[in-house]
Amino acid sequence: MNVGGRHYRTIWPSGDGCVRVIDQSRLPHEFVTVDLHTLEDATRAIRTMVVRGAPLIGATAAYAVALAMREDTSDAQLERAGRELRATRPTAHNLAWALEHMRAALLEAPRAERVATAFRAVAELCELDVARCRAIGEHGLTLIRAAQAARGQRPVNVLTHCNAGWLACVDWGTALAPVYLAHEAGIPVHVWVDETRPRNQGAALTAFELGAHGVPHTVIADNLGGHLMQRGRVDLVIVGSDRTTAAGDVCNKVGTYLKALAAYDNGVPCYAALPSSTIDWSLEGGADIPIEERSPDELTHITGRSASGALATVRVVPEGSPALNLAFDVTPARLVTGLITERGVCAASAAGLRALYPERSDGDAAVRRAPASLQAR
Ligand code: MRU
Repeated sequence: MNVGGRHYRTIWPSGDGCVRVIDQSRLPHEFVTVDLHTLEDATRAIRTMVVRGAPLIGATAAYAVALAMREDTSDAQLERAGRELRATRPTAHNLAWALEHMRAALLEAPRAERVATAFRAVAELCELDVARCRAIGEHGLTLIRAAQAARGQRPVNVLTHCNAGWLACVDWGTALAPVYLAHEAGIPVHVWVDETRPRNQGAALTAFELGAHGVPHTVIADNLGGHLMQRGRVDLVIVGSDRTTAAGDVCNKVGTYLKALAAYDNGVPCYAALPSSTIDWSLEGGADIPIEERSPDELTHITGRSASGALATVRVVPEGSPALNLAFDVTPARLVTGLITERGVCAASAAGLRALYPERSDGDAAVRRAPASLQAR
């Protein structure tokens, strides 16, 4: 999508065998790119959230495997890369999916061809992600059109949580892809952007990318959404998903569950937009999804730009008060109006997903066949 009138993806080959990414830890204050040269660079970038968002975590992990192959093309190195990458962010299923994609491509390649094969496999994976996100956008656009038909000229108000835009993917985004297509189609659309404490992905990233692309939006405190829904000021909730179970439970950034509860209580449709790489076919119940626990510092401190222009990190919690920073929660399928996938919109249920993905009705055999070191925890 566009920044300063120029089209960007979030990740691309830099031309010298390395990988370039937008450093999301410095947005919205600075738009800078960084080069990843080694497996270790890429692993650190995922862990420290220089890159984040489930599909982009998957794409970066795939590039990390290609970088690992530049260092050493052995099977042992492939296993090591899988092990180290899998430990970076435990919740997003796209990570396991991307590692399996790379492993399948590399195990059948002779060692002398593994570097070239790896970079080809990553390029395929990235194009697939872009095509899937674009298709999600088209299917979601029908929902925004329907909302507009019911509302006349008044802008369609979409509420979103965290960042499930192009910055979370290779391009387009999941939850925001329908918004970008609606904007391009001239449909008046406005986005309520949850700030998304503690890391503020909404305030920092979603607001940045919508602003850079010229989409009207307003940042709100995480707790305002319920009130806006009660007053009829939200037409649709669209969020992303880090892991979706075969029964349609949606694990996404912490706070999504509360938005879905408020939407349910107020009769506001609540959709999760996700590429199928997010679906963990081996899980039925959301309670089995591993929830990432991050440093309490993300909660006790906050970073922003001071009046002098310098970036500053300040403490907002009393010294000595413990803080618990669980990064995701699970929204049960019964609270989700539908899933917007690259194949269309379906009910958030086992039957709904099976109808769109009949080939998966026997579960995620590919992932189950992978060695334990490459499986999602
Ligand atoms: O911790 P993050 O920033 O990686 O979390 C991102 C989200 O929760 C997104 O909503 C999710 O990845 C789905 S979007 C593409």
